[in-house]
Amino acid sequence: MRFKDKQVVIWGGNSGIGLASAIEFRKEGGRVLIIGRNPDTLKAALQKIGPDALGICADISDLAGLDRVYEQIKRDLGRIDVLFVNSGIGGAIPMRQMTVAKWDEMMNVNLRGPFFAVQKALPLLRRGSSIVLTSSIGHFRGLPDNTHYAAAKAGIRSLARTIGVELVGEGIRVNCLSPGPIDTPLLGRSGMEALREPVREINPMKRWGDPVEAARAVLFLASDDASFITGFDLVVDGGMCSF
Ligand SMILES: NC(=O)c1ccc[n+]([C@@H]2O[C@H](COP(=O)([O-])OP(=O)(O)OC[C@H]3O[C@@H](n4cnc5c(N)ncnc54)[C@H](OP(=O)(O)O)[C@@H]3O)[C@@H](O)[C@H]2O)c1
Repeated sequence: MRFKDKQVVIWGGNSGIGLASAIEFRKEGGRVLIIGRNPDTLKAALQKIGPDALGICADISDLAGLDRVYEQIKRDLGRIDVLFVNSGIGGAIPMRQMTVAKWDEMMNVNLRGPFFAVQKALPLLRRGSSIVLTSSIGHFRGLPDNTHYAAAKAGIRSLARTIGVELVGEGIRVNCLSPGPIDTPLLGRSGMEALREPVREINPMKRWGDPVEAARAVLFLASDDASFITGFDLVVDGGMCSF
């Protein structure tokens, strides 16, 4: 029960890694509030998490909407002990076919949105609070057709260091998670289902990770078990980037 009496806010908590984390936080006593765009999956996710879970429908790339989200969180929770900024989109585009619109969409959802989702949450954080950001192994592996995604996720990894150092004196830890292949709806949503088998084959463990395996790493980083860890990047990839 590492999160007993803790208020946990999860951006992108209605699917995949975020939803698995929400369920685990709840199991360990956390009061969970999830945020996502899709009202149907948000509702279904709340039912899976438990009766006291809360949900807000919002788009992380809509900066004006972020103020509305945190006003509601202030009313509903009063403070945030764990902020997990996990929202993200995928998508493979060869560099030569990249458009400004596609580039901007990726940056707005996967980098600009997460930065301001942290900045605007600060008034609700306090000494002992913890922030976890979701990056990707794409931030240090050169994968084809991945320029915009990898650049955004490298930015996220950097934010864990730079926001981390700005907040260390306030007693707030900031870390990031870099998942490798985790079996979530992301692959299908990004039109990359064809990668499933080749990625499984090159992974040393010969499989995709389960979302709960990523969630356990998130809970570790967010918990007091990681009390002397900040600015760190925890890779959960079945050994893909190590061997
Ligand atoms: N699965 C992997 O193999 C893998 C590997 C490396 C990194 N990651 C990262 O892990 C994170 C979670 O991904 P996942 O695999 O769990 O995928 P997922 O199941 O597709 O979940 C993505 C989550 O992000 C939310 N989201 C997307 N765009 C949003 C927006 N504009 N505003 C608010 N929420 C938004 C989604 O909510 P809606 O459905 O409501 O839009 C959903 O809850 C992402 O940051 C992803 O880049 C995943």
